[in-house]
Amino acid sequence: MPVVRIGVLTGGGDCPGLNAVIRAVVRKGEGLYGHNIVGFRHGWRGVIELESVDLTTASTRGLIHRGGTILGSSRTNPYKTEDGVARVHDTIKSEHIDALIPVGGEDTLGVAAKLVGDGVNIVGVPKTIDNDLSATDFTFGFNTSVQIATDAIDRLHTTAESHDRVMVVEVMGRHAGWIATYSGIAGGADLILVPEDPFDIAEVCDRIQHRHRRGANFSIVVVAEGAVPAEGTMALQSAEVDEFGHVRLGGISNDIAREIEQRTGFETRVTMLGHVLRGGTPTAYDRVLATRFGIEAIDAVNDGEFGIMVALRGPDIVRVPIEEGVRQLKTVDPKLYDVASVFFG
Ligand code: F6P
Repeated sequence: MPVVRIGVLTGGGDCPGLNAVIRAVVRKGEGLYGHNIVGFRHGWRGVIELESVDLTTASTRGLIHRGGTILGSSRTNPYKTEDGVARVHDTIKSEHIDALIPVGGEDTLGVAAKLVGDGVNIVGVPKTIDNDLSATDFTFGFNTSVQIATDAIDRLHTTAESHDRVMVVEVMGRHAGWIATYSGIAGGADLILVPEDPFDIAEVCDRIQHRHRRGANFSIVVVAEGAVPAEGTMALQSAEVDEFGHVRLGGISNDIAREIEQRTGFETRVTMLGHVLRGGTPTAYDRVLATRFGIEAIDAVNDGEFGIMVALRGPDIVRVPIEEGVRQLKTVDPKLYDVASVFFG
C-alpha cells in the first residue's frame, strides 16, 4: 500500500481520553502501517486555517494518562464559517490528505457526515463526557466524569451532614442525564433531576421534606445542567447559543436551590462541577476505550473503509455509518432512572 497521509483533529468540548486516541492512531498508523499522520489544531478550525503539526511516535509518547488534547479543540463549524467548506477541501488537497479522523461528538461528527457526502474520506471517533451518542454504548470521557462527580458527591455528603444542609450538585451532560444518573446512583443521591423527566419543584421540595421528617438531617440533590422544570412550574433564565445552535447550559442549580430554601426553610448550598468533570487524568476504563477506538479507526483507514465511525457495542468495537452516530440523541434509559429513583426521598 502506498504511504497514506492521514489528518487527525479533536473538536467540540474536550474530554479525558482524547490524547489516548491520538497516541493509538499514530502508534499503529506510523509504526505498523508506515502512514504519515498530521494533526490539525483546534478541531475544524485547524483544517480551515491550515494549522497543522506532524504527529510521530516520538511526539506522542507519554500521552495515555494526559487529559485534554495536545491538538487543542474548538467548536468551529465550517458550514457556519465564510468559505469554511471550500477551505477544508483546499487544505485536504494542498496537504495531500488521503483521509481524516475527526474525534468528536454530535457536532464534530455532524460536520464529518456532511463532508462524507462531499466525497471526503472520513473515519470518525466518538467522544463526549455526555455519553449521548446513540450509535455507541459508551463514549470515552464519560466514565471519568462520572468518577469525578461521584468523588465530589461523597465529599459533599460529609459537609452536608455536619451542617444539616441540602446540597444541590450540578453536573454537565447537555440534554441527557447520563452523568447525573450514574453519579447520582453511585454517590447515593436523594434526588436526581434529569432533562428526560421534567421536574416539578413543589414535588422536589415535598420529597426533601418527607426525607427530613423521617429523620434525615441533610439531602443531596444531583441536577443535570439540562434539567427542565415541568411547564409552568418554575421560570429559568435564557441562555446564549453557540455556532452549532446549542444553548450554553449551566446555572439551573442556583434557581433550584433558591426555591428549595424558600419553600422548605432548609439551608441550601450549590456546587456546580462544570468543567472540572472534563479535566485531568482519564480513568483506566476511558484509556482502554479510547485506545481501542483509535486502533479501530486507523485499521479502518488502512482497510480503505470510509464514511463510518467506530463504536462500542457490547464488548466489541464495531464500524457503523457515520450518520448513525449523529442521527439521534441517546437519552437515559428509563429503566436505569427507575433504579436510581428507588433511593429518592
Ligand atoms: O458536550 C460536552 C460539554 O461538556 C457539555 O456537557 C456542556 O454543556 C458543554 O460541553 C460545555 O461547553 P463549553 O466547554 O463550551 O463550555
